[in-house]
Amino acid sequence: MCMEGGKEMKEYIPIEMGGFNYKGIRLRHEWQAMVTISEILKEFDPELIIEFGSQYGGLTLFMNDTCPNAEIRAYDIDNRYFHDVKKQLNNNVIFKVCNILIGLPKDIINLCRDKRRKFL
Ligand SMILES: C[S@@+](CC[C@H](N)C(=O)[O-])C[C@H]1O[C@@H](n2cnc3c(N)ncnc32)[C@H](O)[C@@H]1O
Repeated sequence: MCMEGGKEMKEYIPIEMGGFNYKGIRLRHEWQAMVTISEILKEFDPELIIEFGSQYGGLTLFMNDTCPNAEIRAYDIDNRYFHDVKKQLNNNVIFKVCNILIGLPKDIINLCRDKRRKFL
């Protein structure tokens, strides 16, 4: 994923109600914030990304494109929205339905203890 010089800005189509469409998937951040997130990801080069509240998976896809080799664990309490993005994600992404506020599951605790370079 390269955002330098606005080359790939054509992928960023603002939509109402917050966020924009990234490759046809809703991403609920301002696209300007994604420039910063992209820079952080490239600089930090995480091996493991943990995303709480992935919803449609727009940010998941963006992070998967930016860091294709990183393992991404995406969690959401609601599984109604994540299906469309799945075909665009590589095998490093695992989505799980989970309420992170109730009885934090063991796998999340173990991921937080994981020694790899992490981005949460
Ligand atoms: C603003 S949306 C996330 C947007 C997404 N990260 C993006 O950038 O496009 C917030 C999401 O958090 C999820 N959520 C809220 N409470 C949660 C909880 N306790 N456990 C897991 N997911 C939760 C909601 O279902 C919703 O999909």
